[in-house]
This record gives sequence, structure tokens and C-alpha cells, in this order.
Amino acid sequence: MSVGIQRISFYTAPFYLDMSEFAQARGEERDKFHIGIGQDQMSVISPDEDIVTLAANAALPIMQEFDPKTITAVLFATESGIDQSKSAGAFVHGLLGLSSRCRVVELKHACYGGTAALQMAVNMVRVNTSERVLVIAADVARYELGSPGEATQGCGAVAMLISNQADILAIEAGSGYYTEDVMDFWRPNYRDTALVDGKYSTMVYLTALKYAWQYFQEERHLAYNDFARFCYHLPFTKMAIKAHSRLMKLTEQEANEATIEQAMGSSLRYNRTVGNSYSASLYFGLISLLENDAENLAGQRIGLFSYGSGCVGEFFSGIVADRYRDYLYTTKHQTLLAARQQLTFSTYLAFYKQFGEVERNDNIEIAHYTNGHFRLSAIRAHKRQYVQQSS
Ligand code: HMG
Repeated sequence: MSVGIQRISFYTAPFYLDMSEFAQARGEERDKFHIGIGQDQMSVISPDEDIVTLAANAALPIMQEFDPKTITAVLFATESGIDQSKSAGAFVHGLLGLSSRCRVVELKHACYGGTAALQMAVNMVRVNTSERVLVIAADVARYELGSPGEATQGCGAVAMLISNQADILAIEAGSGYYTEDVMDFWRPNYRDTALVDGKYSTMVYLTALKYAWQYFQEERHLAYNDFARFCYHLPFTKMAIKAHSRLMKLTEQEANEATIEQAMGSSLRYNRTVGNSYSASLYFGLISLLENDAENLAGQRIGLFSYGSGCVGEFFSGIVADRYRDYLYTTKHQTLLAARQQLTFSTYLAFYKQFGEVERNDNIEIAHYTNGHFRLSAIRAHKRQYVQQSS
């Protein structure tokens, strides 16, 4: 029996802003974004989508392959909550037609929430092998217009089916983690955009990596060379390169462009165009690696570092399954990314503003923009209304 990821699927909004256009509009050099932070595009959420539609759209391919009635739990990780009480997972439960014999809960710790959900799901299955847990990480990364964080926005969701049939990645027992009460990034209840001490946050990320790795080594006694590839939480792709350089230094490896590129494989490709999706970001990186790496990674060990501001970091590992390529949704994902529509800077601003207005409204009809299967059509008497496209 190997417990871990049986299926993994992502969804992102069908709209994006090109970072060259962003640079021009903000009066910055384009290379600051394409090279300095390592982003080419960012996915932009339309006013008729939110974490629920992102999540349901991400989980749909899995639910088309497996009977939704067999799912025993939904663990929904997000820091872009739409309600202080009702779990976003309960909306998703309804949209996907899951059984009432299913537990649903929302989990939060900034970008670390997705990993907390994954580890809980894995442990649920280890205790009871008949559990089939749907882990969903969904977020909308939103910063103040004109702030340094604006360039690192994005949105998306990753859905993972966790069971005792790890067709894609078996999660290994034992990880290293690190928690410290810091104010590097946070979003008080009265705000719809995050506050961030940007430079400080990158330093805390690296500190968390160092201590999580040290703890991991004490627990697992694995050396750097026991890993074929590494995936990192990706607020922007340059962050992972900095993180990996730090790890190589800590483990006395020779860090140069070629050795770093070899270790990261294709894990940065999707995130360069999607941007930050907070709790889902690490898993976009994992999907990107598995779907794009030229080398067959079957049987190889992947190291994963999850970071959530505030802060919690965790380093853990997984072994790639033999026939993993047969179970990926590669064509679906690549078609979705290729079909996204480019926005002008002024449409991006209009979407940004309208999204905020929807979030603050209790009674509003919402125009139809997205081509996603699920969308938010209205809020009536404080209740969000979701509809499915009739295909
Ligand atoms: P900034 O002040 O706009 O950018 O903030 P900068 O001036 O530091 O430039 C960025 C990089 O571009 C620098 O490289 C420049 O040298 C380079 P570095 O020194 O860092 O290696 N650069 C250029 N390169 C080539 N050609 C050029 C050029 N110009 C400049 N012409 C910052 C950047 C990331 C701080 C900002 O975008 C920000 O605050 N972002 C949000 C916070 C963030 O993403 N933090 C990451 C760690 S915390 C985290 O990951 C958690 C998070 O996901 C939230 C959660 O957990 O929920 C954020």
C-alpha cells in the first residue's frame, strides 16, 4: 500500500495580464519582472469567480473520472475565505454532488494551508485505508494597486485525490517543520488585500527553509543527493531559485545556474504564467514538474518545501509512482493555459475593482465573463449563487 496523490488537477482563471504590459503601465523596466522576480504573466480572476469556482473547476476532472459519492472528506485550504463560518468546501460539496456521508472543513495558515491539508489527508488514509480524501487548495493573491506586491498576484486552485493508491506520488512519512510568530504578510478581516513586508518576508522564507531542512535531516537522515528534484512554494519563481541556492549552500553543494536548473527541473514553468496562488502554489509547481520534465521521474524522490507567512514552513518528500505519466491531466492543463485571454491593463484594473465590489456586496447580479464550468452568478440576500455552464 502506498498512500499519497492518486490524481492531481489544477484550474486557473481564463484571463491573464502580461508582465511586459504591467511594467509599461507602472513605469518599470520589463526585465525587473521577467528576470528579477521571474514572472511572465499573472492570472487575473474575473468578478464572476472566487475560491469556490476555482476549487470546483479544479476538482471537476477528478470527479468526472471517479464517483463523487466515494469521497469521504473534503479538506479545503485557503486564505481567501468568502465566509467566516461556512466552509468554502461546503459550497464545493454541493456543486460536485458529493455524498452527505462526507466530512468537509476549511483550513488556514497562509500558503501553508494546502500542505497542512495534504498531510492530514495522508494521515487519515494511513489510519483508515478506505478514506478517499479530496484536498483542495484555492486562493486569489491580491495586493494593493501600485504596491510592490502587485506584480506577484495571481490565482488558482489545485485539487488532489488522496488515497491508498498513490498513482502519482507516494508521500513519505516524516517531515521537518518550523513555526515562528512573525508579521511578514497578513490580511486583517477588514481588508480584501494583503499587507506585506516584502523584503522581510523573503528573509523569513529562507530562515524557515533552513530550520525545516535541518529538522527533516534529523528525522530522515537523507542527503541532498537522495533527491532527484525539488519543488518550492512559489510566490514568484525567483524566490525558489534563491531558496534552492540557499539549500545547496547549506548542504555544501556547488550552486550555479546549471546545477540549480537541474534540481528544479520544470517545476517553475506553470507558475511563471499563473503567478502566486498562495496555498496552491507549491502544487502548481509539482504538477508543472511532473507534466513537463523531459526525464522520466518514476521511482525518484522529490523534495517539497511549503511556506506560509506568519509563519510555518515544512520540508517533506514523495516518491514518484511508476506509471505516473498515465494519470496526469497534462493536455487539459496545457490547453487551459494556452486558451487564456490576454487582458489590457485597463481591463485588468476594471476586473480588480469589480472583484472587490462583489466581495463587499450582499445583493448583486454578476455579469458573465469566465468560460469555467462553474461560476458565481449573483449574491442575493447575503447568499452566494453558483451556476454550472450547460455544456
Ligand atoms: P520590489 O521592491 O518591487 O522589487 O519588491 P526589487 O526592487 O527588490 O526587485 C526585485 C528583484 O528584481 C531584485 O532582485 C532586483 O535586483 C531585480 P534581487 O535583489 O531580489 O535578486 N531587478 C531587476 N532584474 C533584472 N533587470 C532589471 C531589474 N530591476 C530590478 N531591470 C518583492 C519585490 C518580492 C519584495 C515584492 O514583489 C513583494 O512584496 N511581493 C509580495 C511578498 C512576497 O511575495 N514574498 C515572498 C516570500 S513570503 C511568501 O512566499 C508567502 C506568500 O506567498 C504569502 C502567504 O504565505 O500566504 C507571499
